[in-house]
Amino acid sequence: MKNPVRVAVTGAAGQIGYSLLFRIASGAMLGDDQPVILQLLEVTPALKALNGVVMELQDGAYPLLAGVVTSDDPMVAFKDADYALLVGAMPRKAGMERGDLLSANGGIFKPQGEALSEVASPDVKVLVVGNPANTNALIAQQNAPKLKPEQFTAMVRLDHNRALSQLSAKTGKPVSGIRRMTIWGNHSSTQYPDLSQTTVDGTPALDLVDQAWYEGDFIPTVAKRGAAIIEARGASSAASAASAAIDHMRNWALGTAEGDWVSMGIPSDGSYGVPEGLIYGFPVTVKDGVYSIVQGLPVSDFSRRMMDATAKELTEERDAVRDLGLVK
Ligand code: NAD
Ligand code: LMR
Repeated sequence: MKNPVRVAVTGAAGQIGYSLLFRIASGAMLGDDQPVILQLLEVTPALKALNGVVMELQDGAYPLLAGVVTSDDPMVAFKDADYALLVGAMPRKAGMERGDLLSANGGIFKPQGEALSEVASPDVKVLVVGNPANTNALIAQQNAPKLKPEQFTAMVRLDHNRALSQLSAKTGKPVSGIRRMTIWGNHSSTQYPDLSQTTVDGTPALDLVDQAWYEGDFIPTVAKRGAAIIEARGASSAASAASAAIDHMRNWALGTAEGDWVSMGIPSDGSYGVPEGLIYGFPVTVKDGVYSIVQGLPVSDFSRRMMDATAKELTEERDAVRDLGLVK
């Protein structure tokens, strides 16, 4: 058995937390041979509810759960953390765009970036789930001078999984046969779910579906799925978001499958003409815990327009949080 690793989760008493913690404890995120110590952060009024969640974690008798720490202080919850999942933030309500949460949630991520920088493991891998996830990741990253920019990522994996599922339903083929799906850009309605490189059982996806469905149905359905769930459930997605967070971290820690890639929101290095520094969804492969952008993919005029539109929105979000004094 390996030595335990420390996994910090913020917003741990919230609805995503309730789906996420038990799967981390079960080994779904880091593997069946990796014990974990959960370090759970909440706001002070939620600590009582968090204690109830901890009681349930105990009652799960998970063999891999080597300890649980709870706190309302990021300096405690992030101490020596090897992985940090920043979930704690307000969810949007019906009629809002995720960017509308910037002023409410942006302020959470500056002190959390500072605390991660001070006390987390120097190799900590950070995933931001709280919306607007890409720009919140940028805020945390910019306030963590002792950590490397690439240690901060944002979740576009839920969009990636939604895209797999929509394509599977349309083609009648299982998700397991789909490769090379990409979500470019922001976790927002400007995202670009790109089928141009995707294959289904080895056949190009765009040979199996028509362009009208791709542009008029698939892209908006994936991009607006979060709003559709809020409308139907009366609350934002939680179990599917937790599952996507598990998938993101698992691939980052343990690697991606040969011949395939996944989508991660990561700091742009200027690849594909995306302005450097934006936290932008890219196709990535992972080896030995290090992700790399898949290079050399052709970009059609349609893709260019879609990729630029979502980069423009992220640039505007960055300018907005600059005005709030949250990034340089
Ligand atoms: P929730 O309201 O059920 O839970 C959020 C929790 O965060 C609450 O318990 C709250 O007390 C806690 N919290 C608030 N501020 C905190 C702070 N400063 N430190 C620690 N904890 C804090 O919300 P939820 O449904 O779990 O969603 C959480 C966030 O995730 C929302 O912003 C939501 O929009 C976002 N989300 C993102 C994705 C994605 O794909 N990136 C998917 C689903 C939800
Ligand atoms: C989602 O995509 O389901 C989440 O980001 C929640 C939301 O506000 O849509």
